[in-house]
Amino acid sequence: MGEKFMGWVNERLPVTQVWEDHLSKYYAPKNFNFWYFFGSLALLVLVNQILTGIWLTMSYVPSAEAAFASVEYIMRDVEYGWILRYMHSTGASAFFVVVYFHMFRGLIYGSYRKPRELVWIFGMAIYLLLMAEAFMGYLLPWGQMSYWGAQVIISLFGAIPVIGPDLQQWIRGDFLISGITLNRFFALHVVALPIVILGLVLMHIIALHEVGSNNPDGIEIKKNKGPDGIPLDGIPFHPYYTVKDIVGVVVFLFVFCGVIFFYPEMGGYFLEHANFEEANSLKTPEHIAPVWYFGAFYTILRAIPDKLMGVVGMGGAIAILFVLPWLDRSPVKSWRYKGGFTRALIVLFAIDFIILTWLGTKPATDTYTLIARIGTVFYFGFFLLMPWYSVWDKTKPVPERVTG
Ligand code: HEM
Repeated sequence: MGEKFMGWVNERLPVTQVWEDHLSKYYAPKNFNFWYFFGSLALLVLVNQILTGIWLTMSYVPSAEAAFASVEYIMRDVEYGWILRYMHSTGASAFFVVVYFHMFRGLIYGSYRKPRELVWIFGMAIYLLLMAEAFMGYLLPWGQMSYWGAQVIISLFGAIPVIGPDLQQWIRGDFLISGITLNRFFALHVVALPIVILGLVLMHIIALHEVGSNNPDGIEIKKNKGPDGIPLDGIPFHPYYTVKDIVGVVVFLFVFCGVIFFYPEMGGYFLEHANFEEANSLKTPEHIAPVWYFGAFYTILRAIPDKLMGVVGMGGAIAILFVLPWLDRSPVKSWRYKGGFTRALIVLFAIDFIILTWLGTKPATDTYTLIARIGTVFYFGFFLLMPWYSVWDKTKPVPERVTG
């Protein structure tokens, strides 16, 4: 009965074909490690954000008069409203934690290199939109930091010569951030951006499955196929990695639930203290800081004294990641076979990014600004000098087959 039914469906919709191509007969390298958990975790968090977002929308009111109170209503009166909100707000931070690990994996194993340039570019497009999505979502509770954070970011567009001031007004839809801005951010946050992000995630995975996954050795497993045409170092994604990923999901959920139940504000890093006060256009908070995941780019912005150059620096810091596949000219992909100099730089880059992120949440004192400037120079140096040191640094011989 079941087989007959699937036959009927398959003649009309390629269900079994898609299942086989992307799961049961998608051969992934057998040596995936800890770093390979984060792709499926990003998918999990994406689903969490969409589902909890839909339910929050059922009680949230997108207007300057009612938004703040509607969030309090969700927290206190809506059945399980508090857990929906904490799942969504913790999910936003978790999304960036997971995506940063996911991107770092790409960096250490050279997953952005030929033939996976498009996988990386789609990933970067997702990352950019994720930042826009988080920024717009943050305005919705209409707290003090929602309001003033948006004020700072939108005012950056004002630094652009000639069109800046008009552009700023066009984004706000008003002379200052108002209910009109809130309404359009709501539309973009709940409808427009999620659709585009979902489409990009689909393209990301289709592009990956077209060329096949990279692995910690950076070896193309398709180069060593058995007589049956199956890569010798490949194993079917399902059941092997679906089962393995469940381990990652369980560990992730333990940490995620721990935060939701015991530490949902994360000491002001996930939900900033100033945001528990309603937006007031006549009262500027003493210290305006973005949420932690924007920290590194905000630090680069502040490290450069000129406003326009700061904006260019901040944009450049993100833009340069798009062209990473063409900056790395090393003959090997994975850092396992790169030279000591490159490996040390990658570790220092990770430390630099963490320091820049942390500085973004701190006030710009003289000492912090000095550290921010050194960190910014290192950030750009790491990428801009890569075409040179990736060729110069010696490499180790890459084995024929994956090593584990
Ligand atoms: C919503 C966000 C994202 C989702 C749901 C997602 C999902 C996935 C999944 C399921 C995989 C395959 C499993 C794995 O290799 O871990 C993958 C691979 C990959 N992703 Fe993402 N991703 C996201 C964002 C990004 C971003 C921001 C980048 C980098 C800019 C990126 C770069 C890559 C690369 C290079 C691979 C191939 C890795 C390899 O084969 O070694 N992804 N992604």
